[in-house]
Amino acid sequence: MGSVANVSADQWLAAASHRRSVYPLKGTSSVSDARVQEIIQKVLSFAPSSYNTQPVRITLITGPKHKQFWDTIIAAAEPVLKGISEDVWNAMSPKFQLFKSAYGSILFWESGNTIKESGETHKSAAHMFAEFGDHANGMHQILVWTALSLEGLGANLQHLNAIPPVEAAIKKFAGVPEDYKLKAHLNYGDEATEHPATPGKLPFSETLKVIS
Ligand SMILES: Cc1cc2nc3c(=O)[nH]c(=O)nc-3n(C[C@H](O)[C@H](O)[C@H](O)COP(=O)(O)O)c2cc1C
Repeated sequence: MGSVANVSADQWLAAASHRRSVYPLKGTSSVSDARVQEIIQKVLSFAPSSYNTQPVRITLITGPKHKQFWDTIIAAAEPVLKGISEDVWNAMSPKFQLFKSAYGSILFWESGNTIKESGETHKSAAHMFAEFGDHANGMHQILVWTALSLEGLGANLQHLNAIPPVEAAIKKFAGVPEDYKLKAHLNYGDEATEHPATPGKLPFSETLKVIS
């Protein structure tokens, strides 16, 4: 019923449900870099964090820099993955090329110093701030990802920080402080194929319990 901010809950849920993981992306963006920057700034200006401690930091990389960025990731990942096996490298390499073929990257970081200071300021919850940081980061991620999808862009979420030398190379490329930790990486661009359908979900009988 209520339409605070002129958006109903159903409209907001419909908007949120439009967001998908989209992998075939073009090296173009019908949305300007300035607009994507504006979206990120809006999210940063209102998204929640525990005690409003604001541990989330974001980097936007676009156009030719996105290609250079992925070349950096690939160069750092190749020796590690080949060290595991040629098969692993052969399986991952085409995926990296797919991500490189997108238009832009949005990196979601956590400020380690902020997490540390939050634990000192709020001692009784100090043991929780690492987890709270993850929660806040995910909230920022979903808001940016959804907003991009409403602008007509496709995006997929990656975690190349799973390979430590890759995270180090990403940090160097982005020029972020040493205490930053990469939490997620959203590749985005114009969608190259039809927008995917929502994947199947578990029944509510398994995922929801109502106590009334
Ligand atoms: C916490 C989290 C981590 C994820 N990590 C990856 C990832 O590393 N690579 C990837 O391709 N997709 C990743 N995804 C995307 C999921 O695979 C995807 O959201 C899920 O299959 C549902 O599809 P949808 O995004 O279209 O709703 C991740 C999603 C979440 C929420």
